[in-house]
Amino acid sequence: MEIETAAQDLEEDFNREIILENLIIKTVNLSKTYKVGDIDVPALKHVNINVEPGEFVAIMGASGSGKSTLMNLLGCLDMPTAGDYFLDGQNTSKMSKNEYAQIRNQKIGFVFQGFNLLPRTTALENVELPLMYDRSGKTINQEKMAIAALERVGLGDRMHHIPSQLSGGQQQRVALARALVNEPSLILADEPTGNLDSRTSVEVFHLFQQLNDEGITIVMVTHERDFAAFAKRIIEMRDGRVIKDYEIKDRLNAETELQKILSEAIIDD
Ligand SMILES: Nc1ncnc2c1ncn2[C@@H]1O[C@H](COP(=O)(O)OP(=O)(O)OP(=O)(O)O)[C@@H](O)[C@H]1O
Ligand SMILES: [Mg+2]
Repeated sequence: MEIETAAQDLEEDFNREIILENLIIKTVNLSKTYKVGDIDVPALKHVNINVEPGEFVAIMGASGSGKSTLMNLLGCLDMPTAGDYFLDGQNTSKMSKNEYAQIRNQKIGFVFQGFNLLPRTTALENVELPLMYDRSGKTINQEKMAIAALERVGLGDRMHHIPSQLSGGQQQRVALARALVNEPSLILADEPTGNLDSRTSVEVFHLFQQLNDEGITIVMVTHERDFAAFAKRIIEMRDGRVIKDYEIKDRLNAETELQKILSEAIIDD
Protein backbone atom coordinates (compact mmCIF):
# COMPACT_ATOMS: atom_id res chain seq x y z
CA MET A 1 0.00 0.00 0.00
CA GLU A 2 2.76 2.40 0.97
CA ILE A 3 4.62 1.69 -2.24
CA GLU A 4 1.49 2.43 -4.24
CA THR A 5 1.00 5.77 -2.49
CA ALA A 6 4.63 6.68 -3.06
CA ALA A 7 4.30 5.82 -6.74
CA GLN A 8 1.16 7.95 -6.97
CA ASP A 9 2.92 10.90 -5.31
CA LEU A 10 5.78 10.55 -7.75
CA GLU A 11 3.42 10.55 -10.68
CA GLU A 12 1.62 13.64 -9.37
CA ASP A 13 4.93 15.45 -8.94
CA PHE A 14 5.87 14.49 -12.46
CA ASN A 15 2.59 15.80 -13.90
CA ARG A 16 2.85 19.02 -11.89
CA GLU A 17 6.33 19.64 -13.22
CA ILE A 18 5.12 19.24 -16.77
CA ILE A 19 2.30 21.76 -16.32
CA LEU A 20 4.79 24.24 -14.83
CA GLU A 21 6.99 23.93 -17.89
CA ASN A 22 4.30 25.67 -19.96
CA LEU A 23 4.75 23.45 -22.98
CA ILE A 24 2.07 23.00 -25.60
CA ILE A 25 3.53 19.63 -26.62
CA LYS A 26 5.54 17.25 -24.50
CA THR A 27 6.07 13.63 -25.41
CA VAL A 28 7.74 11.17 -23.08
CA ASN A 29 9.04 8.00 -24.72
CA LEU A 30 6.15 8.15 -27.14
CA SER A 31 5.99 4.91 -29.11
CA LYS A 32 3.71 3.33 -31.66
CA THR A 33 3.82 -0.22 -32.95
CA TYR A 34 1.32 -1.20 -35.62
CA LYS A 35 0.16 -4.78 -35.79
CA VAL A 36 -0.18 -6.22 -39.28
CA GLY A 37 -1.44 -9.78 -38.87
CA ASP A 38 1.09 -11.39 -36.53
CA ILE A 39 3.83 -8.95 -37.39
CA ASP A 40 4.74 -5.94 -35.25
CA VAL A 41 5.70 -2.82 -37.17
CA PRO A 42 7.46 -0.42 -34.80
CA ALA A 43 6.80 2.97 -36.44
CA LEU A 44 7.74 5.26 -33.55
CA LYS A 45 10.33 4.50 -30.86
CA HIS A 46 10.71 6.49 -27.64
CA VAL A 47 10.19 9.92 -29.08
CA ASN A 48 10.82 12.81 -26.67
CA ILE A 49 9.98 16.27 -27.91
CA ASN A 50 9.05 19.56 -26.28
CA VAL A 51 7.30 22.37 -28.10
CA GLU A 52 6.70 25.76 -26.50
CA PRO A 53 3.79 28.02 -27.41
CA GLY A 54 4.61 30.19 -30.43
CA GLU A 55 7.09 27.80 -32.02
CA PHE A 56 7.05 26.84 -35.71
CA VAL A 57 8.52 23.36 -36.14
CA ALA A 58 9.22 21.45 -39.37
CA ILE A 59 9.47 17.67 -39.15
CA MET A 60 11.66 16.08 -41.81
CA GLY A 61 12.82 12.57 -42.62
CA ALA A 62 12.79 9.88 -45.29
CA SER A 63 9.60 8.15 -46.35
CA GLY A 64 8.58 5.62 -43.69
CA SER A 65 10.56 7.32 -40.90
CA GLY A 66 7.41 7.84 -38.81
CA LYS A 67 6.49 11.48 -39.50
CA SER A 68 2.79 10.89 -40.15
CA THR A 69 2.57 8.41 -37.29
CA LEU A 70 3.93 11.10 -34.96
CA MET A 71 1.59 13.77 -36.39
CA ASN A 72 -1.44 11.49 -35.93
CA LEU A 73 -0.50 10.96 -32.28
CA LEU A 74 0.12 14.69 -31.72
CA GLY A 75 -3.22 15.40 -33.38
CA CYS A 76 -5.04 12.92 -31.10
CA LEU A 77 -6.17 11.04 -34.21
CA ASP A 78 -4.53 7.85 -32.95
CA MET A 79 -3.35 6.44 -29.60
CA PRO A 80 0.26 5.52 -28.75
CA THR A 81 1.12 1.94 -27.75
CA ALA A 82 3.54 3.25 -25.09
CA GLY A 83 4.70 6.51 -23.59
CA ASP A 84 2.86 9.71 -22.75
CA TYR A 85 1.68 12.75 -24.64
CA PHE A 86 0.97 15.94 -22.73
CA LEU A 87 -1.04 18.44 -24.74
CA ASP A 88 -1.15 21.91 -23.17
CA GLY A 89 -0.24 20.33 -19.81
CA GLN A 90 -2.85 17.57 -19.91
CA ASN A 91 -1.87 13.93 -20.09
CA THR A 92 -3.83 12.57 -23.05
CA SER A 93 -2.98 8.95 -22.22
CA LYS A 94 -5.24 9.15 -19.20
CA MET A 95 -8.25 10.45 -21.11
CA SER A 96 -11.48 8.73 -22.04
CA LYS A 97 -12.41 8.52 -25.72
CA ASN A 98 -14.78 11.45 -25.23
CA GLU A 99 -12.23 13.66 -23.51
CA TYR A 100 -9.74 12.77 -26.21
CA ALA A 101 -12.13 13.85 -28.99
CA GLN A 102 -13.00 17.01 -27.09
CA ILE A 103 -9.41 18.11 -26.54
CA ARG A 104 -8.68 17.44 -30.22
CA ASN A 105 -11.59 19.61 -31.28
CA GLN A 106 -10.74 22.45 -28.90
CA LYS A 107 -6.96 22.66 -29.14
CA ILE A 108 -5.92 21.34 -32.54
CA GLY A 109 -6.45 22.29 -36.16
CA PHE A 110 -5.26 19.63 -38.61
CA VAL A 111 -4.26 20.27 -42.25
CA PHE A 112 -3.70 17.31 -44.59
CA GLN A 113 -1.78 16.97 -47.83
CA GLY A 114 -4.95 16.10 -49.79
CA PHE A 115 -7.03 19.00 -48.31
CA ASN A 116 -9.80 16.55 -47.23
CA LEU A 117 -12.67 18.90 -48.10
CA LEU A 118 -16.19 17.65 -48.71
CA PRO A 119 -16.56 17.84 -52.51
CA ARG A 120 -20.14 19.03 -53.08
CA THR A 121 -20.08 21.45 -50.18
CA THR A 122 -19.25 25.15 -50.29
CA ALA A 123 -16.12 26.60 -48.71
CA LEU A 124 -18.30 28.20 -46.04
CA GLU A 125 -20.02 24.92 -45.12
CA ASN A 126 -16.70 23.05 -45.09
CA VAL A 127 -15.31 25.56 -42.62
CA GLU A 128 -18.45 25.44 -40.45
CA LEU A 129 -18.18 21.67 -40.08
CA PRO A 130 -15.90 21.48 -36.99
CA LEU A 131 -18.20 23.91 -35.16
CA MET A 132 -21.05 21.45 -35.39
CA TYR A 133 -19.13 18.98 -33.22
CA ASP A 134 -18.19 21.57 -30.64
CA ARG A 135 -20.21 21.34 -27.43
CA SER A 136 -18.31 24.01 -25.50
CA GLY A 137 -21.02 26.60 -26.20
CA LYS A 138 -18.72 29.19 -27.74
CA THR A 139 -20.07 28.63 -31.23
CA ILE A 140 -23.31 30.56 -31.06
CA ASN A 141 -22.81 32.20 -34.42
CA GLN A 142 -21.24 29.49 -36.52
CA GLU A 143 -21.62 31.25 -39.84
CA LYS A 144 -19.99 34.44 -38.55
CA MET A 145 -17.02 32.46 -37.22
CA ALA A 146 -16.61 30.56 -40.50
CA ILE A 147 -16.74 33.80 -42.52
CA ALA A 148 -14.09 35.34 -40.26
CA ALA A 149 -11.83 32.30 -40.71
CA LEU A 150 -12.20 32.44 -44.50
CA GLU A 151 -11.44 36.16 -44.51
CA ARG A 152 -8.37 35.47 -42.41
CA VAL A 153 -6.96 33.22 -45.16
CA GLY A 154 -7.90 35.73 -47.88
CA LEU A 155 -10.92 33.87 -49.26
CA GLY A 156 -13.72 36.23 -48.33
CA ASP A 157 -14.71 36.36 -52.02
CA ARG A 158 -14.83 32.58 -52.55
CA MET A 159 -17.13 31.48 -49.73
CA HIS A 160 -19.85 30.00 -51.91
CA HIS A 161 -17.54 28.10 -54.25
CA ILE A 162 -17.32 24.31 -53.98
CA PRO A 163 -13.83 22.71 -53.95
CA SER A 164 -13.82 21.88 -57.70
CA GLN A 165 -14.35 25.59 -58.41
CA LEU A 166 -11.20 26.51 -56.44
CA SER A 167 -7.48 26.22 -57.24
CA GLY A 168 -5.30 23.82 -55.23
CA GLY A 169 -3.87 26.67 -53.17
CA GLN A 170 -7.35 28.03 -52.48
CA GLN A 171 -8.57 24.58 -51.43
CA GLN A 172 -5.68 24.29 -49.00
CA ARG A 173 -6.56 27.75 -47.64
CA VAL A 174 -10.16 26.58 -47.08
CA ALA A 175 -8.70 23.60 -45.20
CA LEU A 176 -6.59 26.02 -43.18
CA ALA A 177 -9.66 28.15 -42.41
CA ARG A 178 -11.43 24.97 -41.26
CA ALA A 179 -8.43 24.21 -39.02
CA LEU A 180 -8.54 27.78 -37.61
CA VAL A 181 -12.27 28.16 -37.02
CA ASN A 182 -12.22 26.68 -33.51
CA GLU A 183 -9.40 29.05 -32.57
CA PRO A 184 -6.97 26.24 -31.78
CA SER A 185 -3.68 26.90 -30.01
CA LEU A 186 -1.94 24.40 -32.29
CA ILE A 187 -1.96 23.82 -36.05
CA LEU A 188 -0.64 20.44 -37.24
CA ALA A 189 0.02 20.08 -40.96
CA ASP A 190 1.18 16.86 -42.65
CA GLU A 191 2.82 17.83 -45.96
CA PRO A 192 0.38 20.71 -46.44
CA THR A 193 1.93 21.71 -49.77
CA GLY A 194 2.68 18.19 -51.05
CA ASN A 195 0.06 18.59 -53.79
CA LEU A 196 0.88 22.20 -54.70
CA ASP A 197 3.34 23.84 -57.12
CA SER A 198 6.22 25.77 -55.58
CA ARG A 199 4.75 29.27 -55.94
CA THR A 200 1.42 28.21 -54.39
CA SER A 201 3.37 26.41 -51.67
CA VAL A 202 5.22 29.61 -50.75
CA GLU A 203 1.86 31.42 -50.59
CA VAL A 204 0.61 28.83 -48.11
CA PHE A 205 3.82 29.18 -46.04
CA HIS A 206 3.34 32.97 -46.08
CA LEU A 207 -0.01 32.39 -44.42
CA PHE A 208 1.55 29.96 -41.93
CA GLN A 209 4.19 32.54 -41.01
CA GLN A 210 1.51 35.21 -40.53
CA LEU A 211 -0.51 32.91 -38.26
CA ASN A 212 2.62 31.99 -36.34
CA ASP A 213 3.45 35.72 -35.92
CA GLU A 214 -0.04 36.07 -34.42
CA GLY A 215 0.94 33.47 -31.80
CA ILE A 216 -0.37 30.18 -33.19
CA THR A 217 1.99 27.24 -32.68
CA ILE A 218 2.65 25.26 -35.86
CA VAL A 219 4.10 21.79 -36.37
CA MET A 220 4.33 20.68 -39.98
CA VAL A 221 5.82 17.83 -41.97
CA THR A 222 7.65 18.63 -45.18
CA HIS A 223 9.94 16.72 -47.50
CA GLU A 224 11.67 19.80 -48.87
CA ARG A 225 14.49 21.48 -47.03
CA ASP A 226 13.74 24.78 -48.84
CA PHE A 227 10.27 24.76 -47.33
CA ALA A 228 11.45 23.65 -43.89
CA ALA A 229 13.52 26.87 -43.83
CA PHE A 230 10.25 28.82 -43.36
CA ALA A 231 9.94 27.27 -39.88
CA LYS A 232 11.95 28.25 -36.80
CA ARG A 233 13.16 24.78 -35.86
CA ILE A 234 13.72 21.41 -37.55
CA ILE A 235 13.20 17.96 -36.08
CA GLU A 236 14.71 15.18 -38.18
CA MET A 237 13.52 11.60 -37.92
CA ARG A 238 14.94 8.29 -39.00
CA ASP A 239 13.52 4.79 -38.41
CA GLY A 240 10.94 6.02 -35.91
CA ARG A 241 13.37 8.05 -33.83
CA VAL A 242 14.30 11.71 -33.54
CA ILE A 243 17.90 12.00 -34.74
CA LYS A 244 18.29 15.81 -34.82
CA ASP A 245 16.47 18.75 -33.28
CA TYR A 246 17.81 22.25 -33.96
CA GLU A 247 16.94 25.92 -34.45
CA ILE A 248 17.03 27.33 -37.99
CA LYS A 249 19.69 30.05 -38.29
CA ASP A 250 18.92 31.61 -41.67
CA ARG A 251 15.18 31.45 -41.62
CA LEU A 252 13.43 32.33 -44.88
CA ASN A 253 10.71 34.95 -45.04
CA ALA A 254 7.91 33.67 -47.28
CA GLU A 255 6.78 37.17 -48.26
CA THR A 256 10.30 38.01 -49.54
CA GLU A 257 10.52 34.69 -51.39
CA LEU A 258 7.13 35.36 -52.96
CA GLN A 259 8.27 38.79 -54.20
CA LYS A 260 11.31 37.12 -55.79
CA ILE A 261 9.14 34.53 -57.55
CA LEU A 262 6.77 37.21 -58.80
CA SER A 263 9.55 39.46 -60.17
CA GLU A 264 11.19 36.47 -61.89
CA ALA A 265 7.84 35.63 -63.49
CA ILE A 266 7.58 39.20 -64.85
CA ILE A 267 11.11 38.97 -66.34
CA ASP A 268 10.22 35.60 -67.94
CA ASP A 269 7.14 37.17 -69.58
N1 LIG B 1 -1.77 1.89 -40.44
C1 LIG B 1 -0.58 1.28 -40.51
N2 LIG B 1 -0.47 -0.05 -40.34
C2 LIG B 1 0.73 -0.65 -40.37
N3 LIG B 1 1.88 -0.03 -40.61
C3 LIG B 1 1.84 1.29 -40.80
C4 LIG B 1 0.62 2.02 -40.76
N4 LIG B 1 0.88 3.33 -40.99
C5 LIG B 1 2.21 3.41 -41.15
N5 LIG B 1 2.80 2.19 -41.04
C6 LIG B 1 4.25 1.91 -41.12
O1 LIG B 1 4.91 2.71 -40.14
C7 LIG B 1 6.09 3.28 -40.65
C8 LIG B 1 6.03 4.80 -40.57
O2 LIG B 1 5.03 5.26 -41.45
P1 LIG B 1 4.64 6.79 -41.59
O3 LIG B 1 3.42 6.87 -42.42
O4 LIG B 1 4.58 7.40 -40.25
O5 LIG B 1 5.91 7.37 -42.38
P2 LIG B 1 6.18 8.83 -42.97
O6 LIG B 1 7.46 9.30 -42.40
O7 LIG B 1 4.99 9.70 -42.79
O8 LIG B 1 6.40 8.51 -44.53
P3 LIG B 1 6.01 9.40 -45.84
O9 LIG B 1 7.08 10.44 -45.95
O10 LIG B 1 6.07 8.41 -46.95
O11 LIG B 1 4.64 9.98 -45.64
C9 LIG B 1 6.26 2.74 -42.06
O12 LIG B 1 7.11 1.64 -42.03
C10 LIG B 1 4.85 2.31 -42.44
O13 LIG B 1 4.89 1.24 -43.35
MG1 LIG C 1 3.64 10.64 -44.11
